[in-house]
Amino acid sequence: MSEKKTTAAAAVTKLGYVGFETPDLDALVDYYTTNLDFVVVDKAGDYAYLTTGSEHHNIVIEKTKDQPRGRTFVGWQIEGGLDDAEKRLRDRGYQTERRTDIGPGSPDTLILEEPGTGTALHLFSEIDAVEVPSSWLRPTKLGHVASYVPDLDGAQAFYQDLLGFRWSDTIGDFFVFLRCGHDHHTANFMKSAKYRDMHHIAYEARDLDHLQMMLDNLASNNFRLEWGPGRHGAGHNIFTYHKDPDGNVIELFTQLDVMADEDKGYFEPRPWHEDHPQYPKTWEVDVAAANSWGPINPAMLDH
Ligand SMILES: [Fe+2]
Repeated sequence: MSEKKTTAAAAVTKLGYVGFETPDLDALVDYYTTNLDFVVVDKAGDYAYLTTGSEHHNIVIEKTKDQPRGRTFVGWQIEGGLDDAEKRLRDRGYQTERRTDIGPGSPDTLILEEPGTGTALHLFSEIDAVEVPSSWLRPTKLGHVASYVPDLDGAQAFYQDLLGFRWSDTIGDFFVFLRCGHDHHTANFMKSAKYRDMHHIAYEARDLDHLQMMLDNLASNNFRLEWGPGRHGAGHNIFTYHKDPDGNVIELFTQLDVMADEDKGYFEPRPWHEDHPQYPKTWEVDVAAANSWGPINPAMLDH
């Protein structure tokens, strides 16, 4: 049907879950459950599995004796079966590992190493379903995860050519936004020789009222914003950023651009767009790209 199905070795359709390491497992679990109403699906030993609903887990937290780390692994749902993906990845020279015992909720996982960072990518076709009570506070979903990479061109080629991602936008020559479904980005990559691991992780609010509810709840627990609210140029999402107890940067956002029709190639029209229609493009590094409402937080663009 679409081009990606014929060229990608494993066509990613959805961001599934992200792994974290923390020296204080209970504190990070408490952050997610108290502030954002995530549900703990499984907690045993040094692990906790949390969900926003429907899927067994969206966040996996592992206790470590070392420094906290974000994005220790990423789970991506792919189209079709793992047998075919495994064969195509190996045919193209990539090492893979197949695991049926990687953890609760994950019956079958194909592990692929991200070039340049060594981060484990967990490719899966199915994840266990869970039913959790609905919540007015909880984010609608895990939206995207952004990370530092030493080789931006290499990362972009890997995700587009091998995993079927499509290019959505670039800021300057250092920040690339890629989509695997309708949403403007589920993965973004910032070029950096000095930083590694996660840049930020983002959870979606269904609207501005929901965003306000989450921010008021965070404030009542003494979590304050580092940046925002504002509106990004690339993606046009209304954003806010704060830090979890480990210092991981957490974005809460709403109104992210959507590419409803890949054949048209432009994002669904919105009155706040700069271009009509709004096609993927390379943005100048300025306030319009970073925050059309102003100001810029330089730390968020430091690379
Ligand atoms: Fe973001």
